[in-house]
Amino acid sequence: MANPRRKLIFNIYMGFYCSAIMANICICSQFSTSSIDPFNKDPGAFPVATNGEPFPWNELRLPRVVVPLHYDLLVHPNLTSLDFVGSEKIEVSVRDATQFIILHSKDLEIMNVILQSEEDLRYRKPGKRLNVLSYPAHQQIALLVPEALMADLRYSVAIDFQANLANGFQGFYKSTYRTHGGKTRIIAVTDFEPTEARMAFPCFDEPSFKANFSIKIRRESGHIALSNMPKVKTIELEEGLLEDHFETTVKMSTYLVAYIVCDFNSVSGTTSSGVKVSIYASPEKWSQTHYALEASLKLLDFYENYFDINYPLPKLDLIAIPDFESGAMENWGLITYKETSLLFDTKTSSVSDQLWVTKTIAHELAHQWFGNLVTMEWWNDIWLNEGFATYMELVSVNATYPELQSDDAFSDVCFTVIKKDSLNSSRPISNQAETPTQIAEMFDSVSYNKGACILNMLKDFLNEEKFRKGIIHYLKTFSYGNAKNDDLWNSLSNNCLGDFTSGEFCYSDSKMTSNTLAFREESAELKEMMATWTLQKGIPLVVITREGRSLRLQQERFLSGVSKEDPEWRALQERYLWHIPLTYTTSSSNVIHRHVLKSRTGNELISQVGVSILKLNMF
Ligand SMILES: *[C@@H]1O[C@H](CO)[C@@H](O)[C@H](O)[C@H]1NC(C)=O
Ligand SMILES: *[C@@H]1O[C@H](CO)[C@@H](O)[C@H](O)[C@H]1NC(C)=O
Ligand SMILES: *[C@@H]1O[C@H](CO)[C@@H](O)[C@H](O)[C@H]1NC(C)=O
Ligand SMILES: *[C@@H]1O[C@H](CO)[C@@H](O)[C@H](O)[C@H]1NC(C)=O
Ligand SMILES: [Zn+2]
Repeated sequence: MANPRRKLIFNIYMGFYCSAIMANICICSQFSTSSIDPFNKDPGAFPVATNGEPFPWNELRLPRVVVPLHYDLLVHPNLTSLDFVGSEKIEVSVRDATQFIILHSKDLEIMNVILQSEEDLRYRKPGKRLNVLSYPAHQQIALLVPEALMADLRYSVAIDFQANLANGFQGFYKSTYRTHGGKTRIIAVTDFEPTEARMAFPCFDEPSFKANFSIKIRRESGHIALSNMPKVKTIELEEGLLEDHFETTVKMSTYLVAYIVCDFNSVSGTTSSGVKVSIYASPEKWSQTHYALEASLKLLDFYENYFDINYPLPKLDLIAIPDFESGAMENWGLITYKETSLLFDTKTSSVSDQLWVTKTIAHELAHQWFGNLVTMEWWNDIWLNEGFATYMELVSVNATYPELQSDDAFSDVCFTVIKKDSLNSSRPISNQAETPTQIAEMFDSVSYNKGACILNMLKDFLNEEKFRKGIIHYLKTFSYGNAKNDDLWNSLSNNCLGDFTSGEFCYSDSKMTSNTLAFREESAELKEMMATWTLQKGIPLVVITREGRSLRLQQERFLSGVSKEDPEWRALQERYLWHIPLTYTTSSSNVIHRHVLKSRTGNELISQVGVSILKLNMF
């Protein structure tokens, strides 16, 4: 997503969320995944469900014994009564025998749950009705199965539920706008990142539980419905209601699911690879959609080419939502924007408006690869999504709209975060998020801006072509899956020779070659270097002094607000050390020399024999 305003709300929410763990420090080792001991002598050790019964799971993260494969989801919102009813069938695969299924669910009324085995489905047996326990502190429900689910089998869980359309900007919520005639119109829209899909339907609401989704939406004839995928058909129901069926999605995380019921208009175009792109806005703002269409067509073409991976869906909609919390949200195939982040009026908008709209489109389109196709394993590495999308704004807007001079604006991206990062209160980009504060801190300029800036630094260090090949490798290797920091460093330091785009893993065990060793060394070095930038907070200051015919290089932690004379300064320096890629050129030739400054002590010298001028930081 774009825009920090959204993050504040998130922080408050996560603070609450985590204090629930803190208040509930119970040891879970006594829970096997298979059953609850009904005679447990110490019921206090179990979380207690709303009905007073012990809740069989006491961790915030879901168990991984039951994994979702496919969701069949029918949603019927009513924009008059401002509520919705839903029903879903989740096809799950069971890895180990278990007597319960834990799902996320928040503020939903669960009406009915039916479990069917493969055999039930085959012989059209009705299945079993399951008891449901609810544990709101963890936003979880437990479905209790009378006979243990068997390992390696598939089951189908059908759930009926209902809720009010949410007030606010999260989950499945109501948004309103006023027509020129002064009438208020209502639309219903979703916004799920990071943990609000569970407000719209019970689900395995964690980024690594990827599944396919088949979505159906009921609506009145005066409205349209949109979702991640194109509509395949509409069927007529009684009382004039219509039901739109959408194509099944690719495998994706729950936070990227989206659907909207509205009365908007659109403009459409087609990219050179045949993807239909449409921009939607309320009828009276429709005339401001044309620039966004032009920009998104150009940018989508650019990314398909740059990443060497086609955008995998047949269509991409971008829609301007009247009430929207963040700048935009990258739902796969249906990106939602605040109106000011998408709409552009050639008569009244400024060049800086144009830059903002272009950058926000570029950011969300980059997420279709970084985030949607390859997703971070857990939210602590959100910088893998946001740092990359912010970095790709620079690359793609510079290439498609050079006249906007977006590369000038990029130094702001770095200086903004340097200000924050030079305070002792900053944090590492990738942080084990244990306490509420640490988790809340993940969604800030460190993930977005510092993430983008160190990627830019790394690109200069590796060179553009190698960096690009590395990220293509990363995207191809982890498509439809999840990744961690180390996966990125491994991909970036791959030493593949030959045809890169064939998509082979040049370092897989079956392909050991003489360059495997070189790869391992390079990979270890890169990992070590990037660890100094991602696992410790702060930024270094490089100090260079002339000593005779040499230059002495030293590094120290750059601190604002603490002077070197202050006794505190030395204490704050301790243990901070970076591997800093430096470049320089001298008056004796045009060659750009490279040097990685790895020590603090100042023993690294650059010999400067017979040279009158030396320039550092050359790219
Ligand atoms: C919403 O409810 C009203 C009655 O309150 C009904 O007339 C209308 O058809 C319903 N719309 C949908 C989409 O169900
Ligand atoms: C699920 O998504 C994968 C791609 O991630 C796709 O290959 C597969 O066909 C999809 N399954 C269904 C049932 O559409
Ligand atoms: C911007 O585009 C120019 C011209 O294509 C290119 O030389 C330069 O490297 C690009 N800068 C970035 C940051 O991508
Ligand atoms: C700097 O921050 C660390 C925690 O990251 C803390 O332990 C230390 O006391 C702080 N130092 C000062 C001088 O504030
Ligand atoms: Zn983003």
